Amino acid sequence: MTTALRIRHLDKHFANGRHALRDINLDVAQGDMVALIGASGSGKSTLLRHVAGLVAADGGSESLIEIDGQCVQRAGRIHRDIRKVRSQVGFVFQQFNLVARLPVLVNVLVGSLHRASWWRSWTRMFPAHERARALDALARVGIADCHAQRASTLSGGQQQRAAIARALVQGAKVVLADEPIASLDPESSRKVMEILAGINREDGCTVVVSLHQVDIAMKYCPRVVALNQGRIVFDGPSSALTPALLHELYGVQAEELLRPAPPASEGASVHVLTPPSAVAWPAKVAAAA
Ligand SMILES: Nc1ncnc2c1ncn2[C@@H]1O[C@H](COP(=O)(O)OP(=O)(O)O)[C@@H](O)[C@H]1O
Ligand SMILES: [Mg+2]
Repeated sequence: MTTALRIRHLDKHFANGRHALRDINLDVAQGDMVALIGASGSGKSTLLRHVAGLVAADGGSESLIEIDGQCVQRAGRIHRDIRKVRSQVGFVFQQFNLVARLPVLVNVLVGSLHRASWWRSWTRMFPAHERARALDALARVGIADCHAQRASTLSGGQQQRAAIARALVQGAKVVLADEPIASLDPESSRKVMEILAGINREDGCTVVVSLHQVDIAMKYCPRVVALNQGRIVFDGPSSALTPALLHELYGVQAEELLRPAPPASEGASVHVLTPPSAVAWPAKVAAAA
């Protein structure tokens, strides 16, 4: 088994004293599709942010996160070559994180910048083959006809698909998706989950996706890792997650996980944020209208 993600003895106390992660140990094989489930506040986002190298864990000497054998952080210190590791990791967030004023195609091309020379990324001159690749990725997620629109004009589901296209263009080997469907209506959610499952199946991409609903985790992910109060309480086949087991693991909070996704209007869920520090956004790209 080639290990795509390796986590050892990860603990995290926030400055306010909250013990958000408790001795997390996890291996994810290359090509796996894993759901990270847990009630609100169980530590899903915190864990994914640690894997992305956005947050440093507590400084225990055995604490370690590796992606594809490359160190993300060790003993509470983010590795100095983190940008190199991040170039292989695609991030998909609940709030999409596209640059609102930029055309969809440019947002997707940002995924290619780690392959560009500094002057190309500075001048935003994307070569024809990168543009063709970005258009292909948009076609693959079903929104090629939106490529010239500003990101802010897309519906929530379309924005999430653009964010996945960006990860495709990046050539990410590992995709980390933090509640990617939490702001979407059921039909858009289904589409986004199918696209994630498609890149896992067809490109061999390792996908770790945090989800609120067990039914969706069971439908798309053969393996489930369940967190409760910062601890892994279950790691196994999703088919083993019966309502009875969930009640045993979560008590009354199980209801939150067993509740099907509430219907939402896609138009009401448009959120475009400025980019996170996770992505290397050249000033010129982020500033361009
Ligand atoms: N920056 C922070 N400072 C203090 N506490 C935090 C911070 N981020 C998250 N937490 C706490 O850590 C716990 C896990 O949060 P989170 O990872 O966001 O949970 P989830 O994504 O599963 O809803 C929660 O109790 C939350 O309040
Ligand atoms: Mg979260």
